[in-house]
Amino acid sequence: MSYDRDLAFEYNSPTKVIFGENSIKDIGLEIDSLGCAKGLIVTDKDIVEAGLAEKVEKALGRRCAGTYDQCSQDSGFHLVDEGAAFALEKGADILVSVGGGSVIDTAKGMAVVMKEGGRLKDYSGVQMLSRPQTPHVAVPTTAGTGSEVTMYATIKDWDRNIKDFICDDFIIPNRAIIDPTMVTGLPPHLTASTGMDAFSHAVEAIHTLNHQPIADGMALQAIRMIVQYLPRCVEEGENLFIRGQQQLAATIAGIACSTAFFGLNHAMAHCIGALFNVPHGIGNSILLPHVMLFNLEECADRYALVAGAMGIDVVNLSDVEAGKTAAEAIRELTKKIGLPQKLREVGVPEERLGEAADQSLADGCIVYNPRLVMEAEEVLEVYRAAW
Ligand SMILES: [Fe+2]
Repeated sequence: MSYDRDLAFEYNSPTKVIFGENSIKDIGLEIDSLGCAKGLIVTDKDIVEAGLAEKVEKALGRRCAGTYDQCSQDSGFHLVDEGAAFALEKGADILVSVGGGSVIDTAKGMAVVMKEGGRLKDYSGVQMLSRPQTPHVAVPTTAGTGSEVTMYATIKDWDRNIKDFICDDFIIPNRAIIDPTMVTGLPPHLTASTGMDAFSHAVEAIHTLNHQPIADGMALQAIRMIVQYLPRCVEEGENLFIRGQQQLAATIAGIACSTAFFGLNHAMAHCIGALFNVPHGIGNSILLPHVMLFNLEECADRYALVAGAMGIDVVNLSDVEAGKTAAEAIRELTKKIGLPQKLREVGVPEERLGEAADQSLADGCIVYNPRLVMEAEEVLEVYRAAW
């Protein structure tokens, strides 16, 4: 593994991570340590139904300001603004997100509107904020998104039918409580798809133009852990140790990609998510081997690292061979955990692949892809291969 002589990067990962079975019980102490008094739970109706919001409410006790449960798979700007108004009305001075990526991203947006006023739309883009925002404790109930430690919030722009972004150091959550008891109820298909989102984060952190040694170390460790534990997680959802390992892998991959960024895979997954409601983890999972083959000539040495971390014997393989083997091994992994293999299986219409390809060129993630992508036709080629 080598780096360019002119290597230069920033590393910023300010989230305090609290890991352990039943670690949620210490949430009150964390709120006190942030100088806050009243936490609003931000969540969705499924989480409430599963009893997880109530668990957090109990742990918060007198520090609970109420619950905002209107989040959805793709929370939009309007919903974030509405949630922020609700939080202020309840007298909350800190947000406690309890859910998957969309819930945590909604809370990130609410934290901004609570502090800055106006509408979240005014702050979409990159590094638009200039001061710390409303404090935020993230309690993930999936093991994949990594949003509990990242500087990104994906918010759906329902007017334009695209996924928009806030990318800012000041929206990184202050605390992440990683408690395996919060994920044991996650059904196998969601365990598998969110787990592959984490895997994509790790691979993209390795291949991005922005790769750097700290993120590399984390991403490779995340890959090792996911290969070892994700299939078992899908099979043995009640096993707290295995759940915890996958959760940690997702958080570690989140730190890696928050630092190093992404590439074509996430750009393409975002677009089929926005246009055809393909769940984020499933889109990433189907596309990843195809994107790797598309990029292979540009970063075979990076994909050889992925192969090594996956446990593939790369000693007698060229980097290109190792990269191809890694892409094939990823396909096998996703088959093993029961995920769809083709875009046609998840409702993507062939005649609209061109529209998704056009939209992908405008997604910020594409900027960091190791192979320069200039034409929609190039993206279309990858979508077609995955269709
Ligand atoms: Fe992702």
